[in-house]
This record gives sequence, structure tokens and C-alpha cells, in this order.
Amino acid sequence: MSLSTPCIIGNWKMNGLRADGLALAQGLAERRRERPDLRGTLAVCPPATLLAAVAAACAGSGVDVGGQDCHEEAKGAFTGSLSAPMLADAGGSFVLVGHSERRQGPGVYETSELIAGKVTAALAAGLAVVLCVGESEAEWMAGRTVERIETQLDEDLARDGRLLEGLAPERLVVAYEPLWAIGTGRTPAPDDIARSHAAIRARLAAAVPGGESVPILYGGSAKPDNAASIMAVENVDGLLVGGASLDGAGFWSMFEQAPRP
Ligand code: PGA
Repeated sequence: MSLSTPCIIGNWKMNGLRADGLALAQGLAERRRERPDLRGTLAVCPPATLLAAVAAACAGSGVDVGGQDCHEEAKGAFTGSLSAPMLADAGGSFVLVGHSERRQGPGVYETSELIAGKVTAALAAGLAVVLCVGESEAEWMAGRTVERIETQLDEDLARDGRLLEGLAPERLVVAYEPLWAIGTGRTPAPDDIARSHAAIRARLAAAVPGGESVPILYGGSAKPDNAASIMAVENVDGLLVGGASLDGAGFWSMFEQAPRP
């Protein structure tokens, strides 16, 4: 499947037990059903334990459901892991890959090679991919943001110098998430977001046939009161929202605020 723009995705991370997760999903599904006129994608990534139930609650509402990560193999002896076909089977239509909390979170370290494997596996399972890229605080301070995100795109979307199999612009979304902005309440200045998104747009256009049409989301401390100003920045096609996506009314207002030219 593909994700249309504007595209607002909530990443619940490791939050949500059955009762509150389902209430959140049902509330969003209800609002979305009442406003089919609002163009774009509203989606959530619940924890894996809730994926099937949330997908069932959102079925037919227009709210899409995705996974937060997938394994690079389709099946096998990988205790505790989830494959892309499992996410699709549970009702997921896309998956986040390369989130910084997995690239370099406590106890995990995902290389670009592994991430490229996950992108390939997700595409093979028919899922769309939301690939997360972004610089660390040290890289930002050193003025190496663009260099960092270009390297990530080059390495995450290719293997042995060749574009990943099955990679098509309509199956890909890129989320720019500066690590220092995630969960901190800090966001880059609009000019900085514009510079990063322009660099991503140019790299995608050069590397992927038709890549100039790939939606590019901003993520990192996006919330209802900064959503409109971030989405007004050139080349920002939507938001990947962590903490603020756990509040249904606030998250919905971010979708409502998305510009629809
Ligand atoms: P945040 O997280 O909105 O809580 O900063 C964003 C993300 O990690 O996707």
C-alpha cells in the first residue's frame, strides 16, 4: 500500500495496554469516519501486542495501522522477533524501519546493512516502509546534519551499490527525526527543517526513480501547538508523532491542522 499526504503517523512506542490502546484507536477511528473529506493518511503504530486488535478497531475507518519494527527474515528461529509478513497478517499496512531508538537505543544497535535488510523484507511482504533518519546532537552541533542523513539514505536503501529490490516511490516514506529533538521538547528552527528536508528530497530524487514524490515527514517533539508551523515548512509532507500521539484529541487536531492545498 502507499501512504497519501498529508501523512500523520502516531508511534505509540512501548505504551498502551489493551483497554487504553483500544479506546485511543476507537476514538480516532470514530473521528476519521466522520471526516472522510479530510484528505491524507492518519495512522498509528501500536505495540505489537495490540496490532491485530487496533487494526480490527480501525478497519474501514480510514485509519491505517503499522508496525514499529520488523525482522529482516520472513520466518525462522528468531526468538522474540516479528516478521514483516506477520505484521501484514495482523492487519498492518506499513512498518517503521530504522527508528533511532532501534538504531542506537539502549541494548540495540542496528547497522545500515540490517536496516536495508528490513526494508527489503517489508517491501517483499507488501508493506509500505517509513524509513527514519536523523542526526545526533553532536553531528548537529558540528554542522554535519545533511552529510549524516545523506549517508543514511544511501546506505539504508541500497545493497552493494544497487537500489534495494522492490523499492518504489509509492511504497516509501522518509521521516526526518533529529535524535536530539525526540522526546525532548526541542525542535529545530524552520530553516533547519527546510534544509534537511530539501536535502532528503534531492537525494531521493537522485537515487530512486520517481523519488521526488516520496513523502517526507518530520518527527521529534511534534505536538498540537507546533504542528501547523512545522507543516508549513517547504517539503514537510506530514509528521511522525511519538508522545503527543497518545492523546487522541491532540493527535487528531494535528491531522486536522495539516495543510491541504
Ligand atoms: P516524540 O517522538 O514525538 O515523542 O519526540 C517522535 C518519534 O520518536 O517518532
